[in-house]
Amino acid sequence: MAVGIAGIGAHLPERAVSNDELAATLDTSDAWVRDRTGIGQRHLAADHVATSDLALAAGKAALADADLAAADLGAVIVATCTPDHTLPATATLVAARLGTTAPAFDLNAACSGFVYGIRLAAGLVAAGGGPVVLIGAETLSRIIDWTDRSTAVLFGDGAGAVVLAAGAGTVGPFDLGADGDLAELLIVPAGGSRTPRSSEPRDHLLHMHGREVYRHAVRRMAASSLAVLDAAGLTPDDVDLFVGHQANARILDAVTARVGIDPARAHVTVDRHANTSAASIPLALADAAAAGRIAPGARVLVTAFGGGLTWGSALLSGWEVGP
Ligand code: ACO
Repeated sequence: MAVGIAGIGAHLPERAVSNDELAATLDTSDAWVRDRTGIGQRHLAADHVATSDLALAAGKAALADADLAAADLGAVIVATCTPDHTLPATATLVAARLGTTAPAFDLNAACSGFVYGIRLAAGLVAAGGGPVVLIGAETLSRIIDWTDRSTAVLFGDGAGAVVLAAGAGTVGPFDLGADGDLAELLIVPAGGSRTPRSSEPRDHLLHMHGREVYRHAVRRMAASSLAVLDAAGLTPDDVDLFVGHQANARILDAVTARVGIDPARAHVTVDRHANTSAASIPLALADAAAAGRIAPGARVLVTAFGGGLTWGSALLSGWEVGP
């Protein structure tokens, strides 16, 4: 059974924060952040807004785009590393507010969560489970150390969603992987079963070895993209649009150069959204669709990399959604 993307939606918190605003309280500058990362601003959720609130708005938009009711859904999946609670899953809260009692669960593969989710959702739909709404949603601002300039400038909040359904184009082939030996490179040390509570508040926030993450990100996303093209029997020139995880414009440039994709075919939102982890690819897909960059039938290559370490790529073809 061919499974494809039947609808797409996105939601960003209203408040956009510029690099200059961050530089008012952090020892950084707009020039440094733009030069090293390509980031110009990020959207940050208001204090009362949680991940499920962002996810709900994106999920509703994707359902409307697919012309589906929540009652038609076979499952609700939320890819996130910043859930509302440790328990219950954020997806259950979102499903209830969408108006469905379909199975609902979270998936945590950090920034690769959306691509992992596409693989999982495609399998559910192909097995006859009905349409699936897959939402990548994050409030990374809650786990950022706002006194650490090496991470505070990199991340943002937001949500993006797709509906996967039978007969709406094709998704795949896929290439997914993980290397837990490198878990320490990107970690929130406390708050889980290893260290439930720490007297050191920073242990509950994100720690990252940026330079090493950068190196692995380029290597893994390039190799994974090439693996998908190879499995599909396609060349880089056959890709209409390249949507990589929006962490850093220099990483995206390095990946397109290694894969051999014309940089003009890459859709870049990191300048406006910063790194929104599992939300970054669906947000960028929605942005590309709104800009008219996804024509019916387009071949879109997505590739992601994140904490775990995890990585994944997929080809999304035969789109029915347009601008
Ligand atoms: N403003 C000004 N100076 C800064 C800032 C800042 N915001 N941050 C770091 N610096 C300084 C450092 O202190 C260092 O100073 P020093 O030389 O005096 O010690 C200097 O800039 C260079 O620091 P580096 O870390 O070597 O800079 P680099 O060029 O590697 O860029 C960056 C850092 C942007 C973090 C880069 O390594 C990167 O993007 N890494 C990948 C990060 C990433 O993508 N993470 C997300 C993965 S996905 C997920 O799952 C969340």
